[in-house]
Amino acid sequence: KPVVLSGCQPSGQLTIGNYMGALRQWIGMQDSHDCHFMVVDLHAITVRQDPQALREATLDGIALYIACGLDPNKSKLFLQSHVPAHAQLAWVLNCFTQMGELNRMTQFKDKSQRNESNVNVGLFTYPVLMAADILAYGANQVPVGDDQKQHLELSRDIATRFNNIYGDTLVVPEPFIPPHGARIMSLQDPTKKMSKSDDNPGSYIGLLEEPKKIVKKIKRAVTDSDEQARIYFDPQEKAGVSNLLTLLSGATGRSIEELVPEYEGKMYGHLKGDVADAVVAFLEPMQTRYQALRSDRAALDEILQSGAAQAKERAEATLKQVYDAVGFIPPL
Ligand code: TYM
Repeated sequence: KPVVLSGCQPSGQLTIGNYMGALRQWIGMQDSHDCHFMVVDLHAITVRQDPQALREATLDGIALYIACGLDPNKSKLFLQSHVPAHAQLAWVLNCFTQMGELNRMTQFKDKSQRNESNVNVGLFTYPVLMAADILAYGANQVPVGDDQKQHLELSRDIATRFNNIYGDTLVVPEPFIPPHGARIMSLQDPTKKMSKSDDNPGSYIGLLEEPKKIVKKIKRAVTDSDEQARIYFDPQEKAGVSNLLTLLSGATGRSIEELVPEYEGKMYGHLKGDVADAVVAFLEPMQTRYQALRSDRAALDEILQSGAAQAKERAEATLKQVYDAVGFIPPL
């Protein structure tokens, strides 16, 4: 089976963007792939985190993964900090990554501009840790949203470079980016990506949000001033409407091509009502499952322990090969 690895940061609440761009694909790969899904707590501390809030968000993340449909009996679910090989491999890969490459990362540029008081070195080498995450498992495919494309390109470059120097050691990973939903846009500014760190909470839908709030946010979503209020899919010309159609498609499992003709001659309000109904119908049962999972800490711990044990085995094997390739003497 091809190997898959991916993860989400436990910074704040996961959004419907994370679900559509990443989680939804993960769930579909569980039977056909050897899957590894983690909560990337090491990455989260590149911005300041309150320790207790981080612990809670980390457990929330794992419970949400399962509530959304990841099955701990099929996929390895674990915390990044439980597998030390990630940080160890990241150090080696740091020595095979150029400053110039990291300087070109758009996420670093964005994040360092937004938070000028804490532009730490971890934020800068963030993509190298991500490369270590991926390369440690020999992942063939990495299902992510559109915003992680550049980081994945860098992971490929680092792996290729390492292989060119030391011979075939690392698997060069392929991105797996869904044709629809890879970039869910802000409800308030459909030219911007939906993000859980947006200052305006009206711009995103949290997976754990109350249905009433979700309905309100969708009804207030920005569309456009097309006088005929035509409903069709064109992310450039009709960014807001296309985003709503993408959400509707993701929440109902029906294709956009199938949905669009049903809105001929209908108003934006009609579309919004349907999107709100569909998103709530999808999220409500998931939230119920989440509550049950989240309140059983012992069960979560067991899942994390078993996930980490399996993940460790694979990651440590790669680390050993890398250490050997660069010339470290194995401990006795
Ligand atoms: P993070 O936590 O920002 O996002 C997790 C996943 O959700 C996707 N995503 C979106 N997809 C569609 N529309 C959106 N508005 C949207 N917002 C987020 C992201 O593309 C991502 O797939 N660096 C990563 C986490 C990471 C990782 C890894 C991923 C660390 N190591 C190794 C894959 C493999 C991140 O910050 O994702």
